[in-house]
Amino acid sequence: LTPENQTILSASEWLTKLYHHLLRYTKDGKEGYQYFKDRGISDEIVDLFQLGFAPNVKDFTAEFLKKKGFHQQVLVKAGLLTLQEDGNVTDRFRGRVIFPIRNHLGKTIGFSGRTVVDQEPKYLNSSESELFQKGKTLYNFDLAKKHIRKQNEAVLFEGYMDVISAYQAGIKNGIATMGTSLTENQAKLLKRYVDTVIICYDADDAGIDATFKVASLLRKIGFQVKIANLKNNLDPDEFIKQYGADSFINEVIKASHTYMSFYMRYLKKNYNLSLEGDRIKYIETVLKQIAGIESSVEREYYLKELSNEYNVTMDTLVEEIQAHRQKMG
Ligand code: CTP
Ligand code: MN
Ligand code: MN
Ligand code: MN
Ligand code: MN
Repeated sequence: LTPENQTILSASEWLTKLYHHLLRYTKDGKEGYQYFKDRGISDEIVDLFQLGFAPNVKDFTAEFLKKKGFHQQVLVKAGLLTLQEDGNVTDRFRGRVIFPIRNHLGKTIGFSGRTVVDQEPKYLNSSESELFQKGKTLYNFDLAKKHIRKQNEAVLFEGYMDVISAYQAGIKNGIATMGTSLTENQAKLLKRYVDTVIICYDADDAGIDATFKVASLLRKIGFQVKIANLKNNLDPDEFIKQYGADSFINEVIKASHTYMSFYMRYLKKNYNLSLEGDRIKYIETVLKQIAGIESSVEREYYLKELSNEYNVTMDTLVEEIQAHRQKMG
């Protein structure tokens, strides 16, 4: 670690404590405390995730760090402070609740600040640096690691609040990317700890599209992929708030679908299966997916499902799939 990065880590540590303290124990952070109360987050979880509040003051953070003896130049470079055109240094996070972003060792390497008054952007993140690289960071991996290992299963969420709400509901093996799609780098890191990933993205159109992208990346790297049973456009945090922890565990996480059955159901939306032409196209598309499955037992399982549902003989399907597999080499 370079001396400069040491300094940034140390400043980040101070800020984590400062923002958390303000939220928990002071008038200046009351707005943030109330925000998490309204979202149903307990004190215990606020403490565990070191959630905080950055007051809506121009140079609160800048002054604090100055008093601690930090040189502003380094902090600007780290994206903890902002250099204005007039040369003044001001706070980057103002009037936002703060999610410290920890690395796998539990050290804060950056922050995400969420507006509490519907400002744009909804989430403001630290800027990328040598220390804070979104494509290499998995939110909550440090706390989730031991649960991921023990259960040989990880749950992948879209957002910080999903991870936190799920944790409070008893799902402690949850992680999230940093508002970006999962990178190969992150997936390979994860593979060292676990074989099965449950994707629990938002059940809106964007979330469903992202689910497919992530699922195919994970499958390529050799994961068993399951898809959580979320519906009605809710995200996991909203589901938990609406239906409670038990429903989330039993009806969403434990009732996860296999990738293929999710795929088969999702694909149906694009076809009018009462038309023969559409039906044939649908079966062809599904067959191509099944052809990509390594396990012959699994392939046969889905072929039978297709065979039964669409009244096509297994012989025909097996013939078709062999042709596809030969093409794939
Ligand atoms: N995100 C971001 N910048 C934004 C919006 C989103 O970085 N302007 C990232 C955050 O990591 C966020 C994730 O994308 O957690 C998912 O976005 P979204 O579903 O919109 O937010 P939620 O996690 O549902 O946040 P909330 O419940 O607080 O509204
Ligand atoms: Mn605390
Ligand atoms: Mn979303
Ligand atoms: Mn969401
Ligand atoms: Mn949400």
